[in-house]
Amino acid sequence: MKILIIGADGQVGKHLYSSAIKTGGFTVAGTYRNPKNNTVPGFLYLDLTKSETIKKVFESVRPDTVILCSAMTHVDNCERYKEEARNINVEGARRVAENCKIFNCRLVFFSSEYVFDGTSGPYSETDDTNPISEYGKTKLEGEKIVSASSDSLIIRTTVVYSYEPESKNFLMQVLRKGASKEKMNIVNDQYSNPTNAAELADFTLKLIKLKKSGIYNVVGKDLMNRYEFALKICEVFNLNSGLIAPERTANLNQIAPRPLKAGLKTDKISSELNQAPSGAESSLKAIKNSL
Ligand SMILES: NC(=O)c1ccc[n+]([C@@H]2O[C@H](COP(=O)([O-])OP(=O)(O)OC[C@H]3O[C@@H](n4cnc5c(N)ncnc54)[C@H](OP(=O)(O)O)[C@@H]3O)[C@@H](O)[C@H]2O)c1
Repeated sequence: MKILIIGADGQVGKHLYSSAIKTGGFTVAGTYRNPKNNTVPGFLYLDLTKSETIKKVFESVRPDTVILCSAMTHVDNCERYKEEARNINVEGARRVAENCKIFNCRLVFFSSEYVFDGTSGPYSETDDTNPISEYGKTKLEGEKIVSASSDSLIIRTTVVYSYEPESKNFLMQVLRKGASKEKMNIVNDQYSNPTNAAELADFTLKLIKLKKSGIYNVVGKDLMNRYEFALKICEVFNLNSGLIAPERTANLNQIAPRPLKAGLKTDKISSELNQAPSGAESSLKAIKNSL
């Protein structure tokens, strides 16, 4: 199977790329937008806001399956720069979906728990959506565009973490600040399921191999708030948990509202793949042991 990973230099894309190569059975091509973030020779340039760059990549790769990882992911920037967020997350998804139709390939789209308002999580795949932020709205519109295209798989995930020294993912923020003994105020009223990027990649490739379509929640097993997750990181990586203080989301005055009681249920993947996702502690220990 020939897969094209759009955004192979992002956190999720990187793990998908390396997992697909490790797993075997896939021919893999990847794209980047910012040359500074592109570390793999052979990746192709693609900008979701420039139709001609998308077409050029499709013509050169001729994939069977396209995995769209690229997005404007900074939640507050999506609120600040709404037009840009729509151009990337909504119109970008539309441009990719149109090419998938022309080139007759399947489309896998990454979405988020931010399609929910966070009043009654954790949510299943069939629960009603109601995004409260611009990021969540653009991801939901992207989902709708993609699911209207002939053959698609939508993967909702959240709080993806991995060990990457340059990354700003939550695990790396806590590890960096912990190592430099910096105090951290971390919210204890935002609930979700921290998700190991490597496991997210493995589940995604399994769903692709099985030609699944529709919406799937792919997240870690444990529903916890960010403060609890930060304490777990300290415990596993032997950092001083006294550096961390609980904080209320409202006190942060962030521009974009956050879904508080969010999180995603994993019954569907557990039963259809006959494999439950790992909990935070075992995933963090696996990461630590791999260093
Ligand atoms: N990380 C999470 O916790 C999380 C949670 C829920 C859902 N998701 C979804 O999962 C997907 C992957 O997220 P991630 O964590 O891998 O994000 P990330 O690390 O922030 O990477 C974002 C990717 O998007 C690319 N990109 C941004 N603007 C682009 C444009 N105009 N054209 C082409 N590419 C562009 C970036 O490329 P350059 O770096 O080259 O610019 C990068 O490859 C996204 O759809 C996100 O919404 C992530």
